[in-house]
Amino acid sequence: MPIAPRLIVGNWKMNGQLAWLSELEPLLTQLQTQPTDHRIVLAPPVPLLWPMSKAIGGRPVALAGQDCHPEAAGAFTGDVSAEMLQDAGATLVILGHSERRTLHGESDALIADKLRAAFRAGLEPILCVGETLAERQAGSAVTIIELQLLGSMPVETGSKPFTIAYEPVWAIGTGLTPDAEDIQAMHAAIRAWLARRFGSTAKPAPILYGGSVKPSNASAILRLPEVGGALVGGASLKTADFLPIIYAD
Ligand code: PGA
Repeated sequence: MPIAPRLIVGNWKMNGQLAWLSELEPLLTQLQTQPTDHRIVLAPPVPLLWPMSKAIGGRPVALAGQDCHPEAAGAFTGDVSAEMLQDAGATLVILGHSERRTLHGESDALIADKLRAAFRAGLEPILCVGETLAERQAGSAVTIIELQLLGSMPVETGSKPFTIAYEPVWAIGTGLTPDAEDIQAMHAAIRAWLARRFGSTAKPAPILYGGSVKPSNASAILRLPEVGGALVGGASLKTADFLPIIYAD
């Protein structure tokens, strides 16, 4: 049975320069000649958004920012607003990634403000949540995730399009992944929490899995019924790795 339509997001993190646009062309050509039912999104560094948007043209790849500032404009040296991402061709934005939470000390409250900014600019947020290994070993993974969801999702989220990415911190860039049962259980817990918070009438949000997704495990992960797609880091940097994830069967 083919895998149901999923959302597959490539998070380039702080990688990529203009020269990479030639790398992108085989991916775009492949998607054109072999259309997929999956929704494909790339999240390059900010300077590449606009040139990539032009290179993509009408082809079926959407663009995402990797972060945004809560304000629309102002004296915030080095920051980028949701409106600027939108202006540069993004339609989505990744927020609350564990690298932002850890390396930039982002709190749930700040992330909630960033979600508000994304909605203001008409961007679809991809909110990342995830527990550390110590938290999983202590048996508190679900509690931690629920606290992150509660703190990072403003109440208006329930009436807007959004995506959740469950990314265990210990699985990001390590080659480790949770067991299929653990992924299923966490995704079900997130789904149940969303229903309690926003009501079961709210538009069902895709819940992605992220953390060491690669060609060898993509099919097994994307086939899990609770999994709405994948947030892919390292393996999205090379077309030769990303294509087999998109076309995993
Ligand atoms: P990884 O990163 O696929 O390299 O583990 C995932 C992410 O950080 O989104």
